[in-house]
Amino acid sequence: MFKRNKEGGVTETAVTAALATVIEPELHRDLVSLNMIRNLKIEGSDVSFTIMLTTPACPLKGKMEADSRAALASVPGIGKITIGWDANVPTDRRIKDKLGQSFRNTIAVSSGKGGVGKSTIAVNLAIALAQTGASVGLLDADILGPNVPMMMGVAQMPPPRNRKMVPAENYGVKFISMAFLVQPDQPLIWRGPMLHSAITQLLTDVEWGELDYLIIDLPPGTSDAQLTLAQVLPLSGTVVVTQPMQVAAADALRGLKMFEKLEVPILGVVENMSGEFFGTGAGAKLAADYQSEYLGSVPMDANVRMGGDSGQPIVVAFPDSPAANAIEEIAQKVAARVSVLALQKSNNFIPIELVG
Ligand SMILES: Nc1ncnc2c1ncn2[C@@H]1O[C@H](COP(=O)(O)OP(=O)(O)OP(=O)(O)O)[C@@H](O)[C@H]1O
Ligand SMILES: [Mg+2]
Repeated sequence: MFKRNKEGGVTETAVTAALATVIEPELHRDLVSLNMIRNLKIEGSDVSFTIMLTTPACPLKGKMEADSRAALASVPGIGKITIGWDANVPTDRRIKDKLGQSFRNTIAVSSGKGGVGKSTIAVNLAIALAQTGASVGLLDADILGPNVPMMMGVAQMPPPRNRKMVPAENYGVKFISMAFLVQPDQPLIWRGPMLHSAITQLLTDVEWGELDYLIIDLPPGTSDAQLTLAQVLPLSGTVVVTQPMQVAAADALRGLKMFEKLEVPILGVVENMSGEFFGTGAGAKLAADYQSEYLGSVPMDANVRMGGDSGQPIVVAFPDSPAANAIEEIAQKVAARVSVLALQKSNNFIPIELVG
């Protein structure tokens, strides 16, 4: 069907035609029209190229590789196939204009209910994304009850640089928290406008650098922090955390509804602390009732709690545990979800390269 070139090897036309039959499983378009095939090189019968992903945390790399190899097998005379990977997370131009920061995706971890594991999920999600090679920041937006530094195992941030705060860094994640700025034993009693300016400062007056993902750990409930965040930042979306009981889901639902009102996309629901004690099921039901994605459940595990208390999050301390695996899978789903959403409204993003 395809002609060989004069050295007897395969042609670029044949290779491109074959790859044009491979469909990106999330975006439902082919790799060639999405401009995802880069650095195509043909030497004799050997072919090498890079697949440019919308997120380094892409869960479907394996499928894309297998599909590409299968498609190329139909090219007569094909030799060795070498596939490399790269990622180009689209940048949100609105954030650049508004805050002067280069955040490609901003993901709030929320729940109408306290103590369900928002901070735990936020911390482990951030680390799991960083482990895929993405540049990740974590903003502790729980101004009155900041827990991120303890969970990340760092008590201080570095001295400021160029009149900007420099985020602390551990496990490949940059993070900032009000806990760095106040005495640990001092209660914070702040009114709405002060909370607003504190959150805004932690977004703007920090040397964040370029981030693929900024994860935001929210305080419980539906209050000033959530409002501020949605006003100040065009959020990519929120991950709603619930416990497995129906009563907890009712609270989580209030949180979900608030973001819906604020026109923040619901990226999906995570059920945390599943197992014998609290049972299981409310997360999946909540997701189904509100037609959002069920991102998965994280089992109740004492190592999760100890990891939080000791500054050794479960994905670092016990990367092979079921809880860590669950969080890694959730991270991949979240990354895939935001990249699909970003592409759908890609006129807000630079570069638009990925649209064919
Ligand atoms: N899957 C889990 N298994 C066991 N313990 C967990 C799990 N997830 C969270 N925890 C523990 O539950 C407690 C509450 O978690 P966390 O602080 O993350 O909740 P939160 O929703 O952020 O709370 P708040 O509303 O106060 O901000 C912590 O001690 C944490 O270590
Ligand atoms: Mg918390």
